[in-house]
Amino acid sequence: MKDNPTITVTLKAAATLDGKIATATGNSKWITGPAARQKGHELRQENDAVLVGINTVLADDPELTVRGIENGSSPIRIILDSRARIPVQSRVFQNDGVPVVIVVGNQAASREWPELTDLTILTAPTKTPQIKWVLAEIGKLGIKSLLVEGGSLIHASFFKSKSVGRLALFLAPKVIGGQEALSWCGNMSVDLIEDAQNLEITSVSAIGQDWFISATIRQQ
Ligand SMILES: NC(=O)c1ccc[n+]([C@@H]2O[C@H](COP(=O)([O-])OP(=O)(O)OC[C@H]3O[C@@H](n4cnc5c(N)ncnc54)[C@H](OP(=O)(O)O)[C@@H]3O)[C@@H](O)[C@H]2O)c1
Repeated sequence: MKDNPTITVTLKAAATLDGKIATATGNSKWITGPAARQKGHELRQENDAVLVGINTVLADDPELTVRGIENGSSPIRIILDSRARIPVQSRVFQNDGVPVVIVVGNQAASREWPELTDLTILTAPTKTPQIKWVLAEIGKLGIKSLLVEGGSLIHASFFKSKSVGRLALFLAPKVIGGQEALSWCGNMSVDLIEDAQNLEITSVSAIGQDWFISATIRQQ
């Protein structure tokens, strides 16, 4: 049983065959091909909200919108940003009427926020927002399904919180290597194989030049 019964959480990542989501210099565009990226938009469309960490916003400036789907509607955008560092010009703040939620920590400095029709700032009771707390708060906003799009630290935090139901992993036929290049679940810090997170692969499919692995999480 996962500890969070109300929100279905899916982790999504696009990785190389050696599990990397960016090079050591932070370059990540594009690991997968157009078909896989389009499937990524479908996953967004299927979820009430999409969440990323602040480092992903700073590195990639993603829109986090649904594109290329007729009558597709974009999910609520959620950013975990303990120190309230997100730049006002970030693309997640585009005024498209889709709600945006920024989660900051209790030691974040006060600052100016962009003029947006639907912007919510949630202040966690801790320096770094804890995943369980975040899920409880966004549950109050009516969110029932959440797509977590990284990066590495955020995926690890979600795994550690035992709140994840499913993994949606795109694997590209590329290898990056490098000790400094991030893997999709960076600081899980499992010392023994017997303590590894176990998953059950439910489907593997070719998607363009890439592979798509769907798996459910076995909570131990
Ligand atoms: N290929 C892909 O699928 C993919 C997807 C996304 C990102 N990326 C790449 O991944 C890299 C960024 O990944 P990253 O691991 O460095 O950073 P990240 O996971 O995007 O963001 C981590 C940051 O979020 C903040 N945070 C707030 N609450 C947190 C919590 N409970 N747990 C963890 N972090 C929390 C922390 O910064 P503060 O303390 O300042 O709040 C933390 O350093 C970029 O290079 C990006 O291009 C690749």
